[in-house]
Amino acid sequence: MCEKCKEKFYITTPIYYPSDKLHIGHTYCTVATDAMARYKRLTGCDVMFLTGTDEHGQKIEEKAKAAGVTPQQFVDNIVCGEKGILDLWKLMNISNDRFIRTTDDYHVESIQKIFKKMYDNGDIYKGAYKGKYCTPCESFWTESQLVDGKCPDCGREVHDAEEEAYFFRLSKYAQPVRKLLTETDFLQPKSRVNEMVNNFIDPGLEDLCVSRTSFSWGVPVDFDPGHVVYVWVDALSNYITALGFMNEKYSDYEKYWPCDVHFVGKEIVRFHSIIWPAMLMSLGEPLPKHVYGHGWLVMDGGKMSKSKGNVVDPYLLAEKFGVDALRFFLLRTFPFGSDGNFSNELLINTINIDLANDLGNLVSRTTAMVEKYFGGTLPEEKQAAELDESLISMLSTLRDRYEAEMEKFQFQNALEEVFKCIQRSNKYIDETAPWTLAKDMEANGKRLAAVMYNLLESVRICTTLLLPFIPASCEKIFAQIGACEDARTWENAAVWGKLPQTVTVHKGEAVFPRIDAAKAIEELEAIMEAQKKAVLPAVEVEPFAEESVDFDTFCKSDFRAVKVKACEAVKKSDKLLKFTLDDGTGVDRQILSGIHKFYEPEQLVGKTLVAIVNLPPRKMMGQESCGMLISAVHKEKGEEKLHLLMVDDAIPAGAKMC
Ligand code: MSP
Repeated sequence: MCEKCKEKFYITTPIYYPSDKLHIGHTYCTVATDAMARYKRLTGCDVMFLTGTDEHGQKIEEKAKAAGVTPQQFVDNIVCGEKGILDLWKLMNISNDRFIRTTDDYHVESIQKIFKKMYDNGDIYKGAYKGKYCTPCESFWTESQLVDGKCPDCGREVHDAEEEAYFFRLSKYAQPVRKLLTETDFLQPKSRVNEMVNNFIDPGLEDLCVSRTSFSWGVPVDFDPGHVVYVWVDALSNYITALGFMNEKYSDYEKYWPCDVHFVGKEIVRFHSIIWPAMLMSLGEPLPKHVYGHGWLVMDGGKMSKSKGNVVDPYLLAEKFGVDALRFFLLRTFPFGSDGNFSNELLINTINIDLANDLGNLVSRTTAMVEKYFGGTLPEEKQAAELDESLISMLSTLRDRYEAEMEKFQFQNALEEVFKCIQRSNKYIDETAPWTLAKDMEANGKRLAAVMYNLLESVRICTTLLLPFIPASCEKIFAQIGACEDARTWENAAVWGKLPQTVTVHKGEAVFPRIDAAKAIEELEAIMEAQKKAVLPAVEVEPFAEESVDFDTFCKSDFRAVKVKACEAVKKSDKLLKFTLDDGTGVDRQILSGIHKFYEPEQLVGKTLVAIVNLPPRKMMGQESCGMLISAVHKEKGEEKLHLLMVDDAIPAGAKMC
């Protein structure tokens, strides 16, 4: 087909905030988009796959200031620096056709024109904004949108803010946007529609504040100095500026717009399914065909966040298990529309079961047998059997089942179809028992050749359909089974018999070696634990008591200096130490204290400590404890620390502390 006649397909990821290193959750969305783009290219479409970075806003400005660099230097480092965003996409084999940065000159120029156009047509007007502002999310919220007084998106504190600002008449577009969501398949999965309509549109869509004066790291409103364009207006427009809308840099707008699908995480569906179509309606431009709101990868049920120390580093996993294994895991394990709970066990099991056992074994057994029984090249003559029919029919129709799922963005289901065929092929090996046939080559040679050919054909078809998911590994498999370019096409994935009858295989290294699960999990857990500790505050002390205590009540507590005459560990207890103390009364006082984890008894003999002596006696492990030793407690990197209060040895036993 000529280039001009090819069906166009335009797909985007959100543009990422370069405020921190990206984690596995961000990688998930980009890998899904990449798989879709590769699939569409495979089917013959002319694909435009866009990703990029969303570089303006108060959060970046503040982070740059804290780091002592300019905002531009700050974002340049996260986008282009070592192990930055560009490096990550290269590592993950992301095949984007274009990469936009919202600090690119051409984008800035377009944003100013877009803002002015909406101002000129009366959809943007000047007013004053009063509201609750969440700085990390760069979002203003109304009182009614807050959850427990906090930001509904991230749960953090919001603060009152008021400023002169421009507003976009979002309210004017409430009904057309409602219609778009409820009467078309614009927003997917369908389950996200109710959420948008019930939570945002029906309670009343208010006009949107679209400029800021409280910070300067943004696109300046060129006709009103001091205002910068609201970061979401700036960011959403990337999908058209990157094609050359209102700029000279590119000229693909007519060719690719409207977009076929914006893949976005569920928390930003609101911006893409309400604000973005309203902006386009105001500009008089066509609307994207679909927005797909995918679920989150979560850890132990909660969102990954740097401050919790539970973000999973894609570099670490890719280095340990390989890029393709990681790409595959992300799309094979979780349904795209729902949240998925990440765990190391799940990752390793998926690699071991699907890739090493099912696919890896099929490829290595098949190529090994062709080498062993035929010296690597199959003979022309073959003998079919009835047993082959179910395998051939399952594999010849696989492409259609796979396509149906891919068109719905159901990656997990598409892969399930492929793996059913891989499992079926492994079963075919057991059914045909090639090792038995090989015992008598004269009688069974032609039959054995047919069995081997069928297995190679199964591998070829499955590998073609796995290309969008594990592209580099598929190339290796194609080389091993001797599949030439023509045998790897989308058209031929639905046609049985495309490998030459006298194909030559080249058995190579195992494409997916089996992982020692216990060892790998232990290593990963140690790394992740260290990572968690690294983000914990160095020293953490108990919050101060809010309730006050009156002086008389306080004075009732009798604190005394006590000298340690003897100290020993309590038998059968890991924690308790037994102290024999001189409290100045002439009668020894016994106190038990659960501090063995922090002290050995011999360290304490002779020390002068502080005890509260008028607590009622308590029995612990059958022994009486008359009072309590006072300690200072805090945490360091999450670990409990305790120091007994030791005072000057010049203080006599029994001296009252007041
Ligand atoms: N800059 C905005 C998007 C503007 S698009 C015009 C933004 N950036 S982000 O870096 O915070 O997030 C980018 C994408 O990553 C979002 O779609 C978000 O949902 C996704 N993810 C971030 N963490 C995620 C998971 N843990 N799991 C899956 N996706 C997640 O939002």
